[in-house]
Amino acid sequence: MSVVILGIESSCDDTSAAIIKDGVVLSNVTANQDAHKAYGGVVPEVASRAHQQNIIPVVDVAIQKAGIRKEDISAVAFTRGPGLIGSLLVGVSFAKAFALSLDIPMIEVNHMIAHVLAHFAEDPKPRFPFLCLTVSGGHTQIVKITDHLEMEVIGTTIDDAAGEAFDKTGKLLGLDYPAGPIIDRLAKEGNPIFQFAEPNMPELDFSFSGLKTSIYYFLKKQIKENPDFIQENLKDICASVQDTIIRILMHKLIIATEQTGITEVAVAGGVSANSGLRNALVEEGKQRGWNTYIPRFEFCTDNAAMIAVTGYYKYQKQEFVGQEVTPVARWKVS
Ligand code: KG4
Ligand code: ZN
Repeated sequence: MSVVILGIESSCDDTSAAIIKDGVVLSNVTANQDAHKAYGGVVPEVASRAHQQNIIPVVDVAIQKAGIRKEDISAVAFTRGPGLIGSLLVGVSFAKAFALSLDIPMIEVNHMIAHVLAHFAEDPKPRFPFLCLTVSGGHTQIVKITDHLEMEVIGTTIDDAAGEAFDKTGKLLGLDYPAGPIIDRLAKEGNPIFQFAEPNMPELDFSFSGLKTSIYYFLKKQIKENPDFIQENLKDICASVQDTIIRILMHKLIIATEQTGITEVAVAGGVSANSGLRNALVEEGKQRGWNTYIPRFEFCTDNAAMIAVTGYYKYQKQEFVGQEVTPVARWKVS
């Protein structure tokens, strides 16, 4: 009999639902929340309310697009954490009610493990063992994956995430939130002529808060001399910031491949949509003989297909949870 999984994602500001049948994605529907733009960042209370409004229509559309009936669903996989507690609560509560009404099992999913397993939503799929650089608005990690549900974080950020570095720089530059895609676009027309302090972190760990401070003082000094500095140099500033973030990420990723001897290299999370990072990965991969894996954009940012894929592997192991399950804001991969 076919295994059909409904995946639910509501950890931050995207409400998403997906259906996969025997490991094949049939639908992946996401509602983004524009309401946060005005605040320059995600407002937890606003996010939670928007999830409440979006979740039922999003699930409805996902089921319709997949061309299945509710009754065909074998289990509901949902993001239990990490994330914003008020946002997670909406997805978890919905999953509970849905599972109860259809008398089907529930599968809890760790959002960060799901970002890695987004690579199994489509072909080509990485071979084990592989390394994954997971870079999003909330996380920056290098993960070593030995099997679908066997993974270890071998490097992580001690402060800001790479996506935050993009978004916070954007705020300094007066750009809209999230600034990552805007900086990416502007950087294409600029040159990386400015230099910022780069962190000196031990092992495979990252730090991005110093970079933000360095950019802040750089801009302050320049604006003092020329009040129009940002407007006149925006594209070059963006190119320089992007170049620095990519160099920091690639430096540690290269060390990780050298230390582990692993040449299957993947990237996941919202920042993996960055064109400069994608190019750097492909170029470095060619030179070093890596097989590189970059998911399609819809599987890079927060999406429910990755939750459903993770749910599918957990379903095969019959790893279910009961109605007593609660969301968790923090939840380590390993
Ligand atoms: O994975 P994601 O959708 O949500 C989180 O779990 O955080 O990642 C969102 C992050 C934001 O910080 C956004 O600015 C960044 O990904 N991002 C980008 C690009 N597209 C999204 N950063 C740089 N370049 C992009 N093209
Ligand atoms: Zn994410």
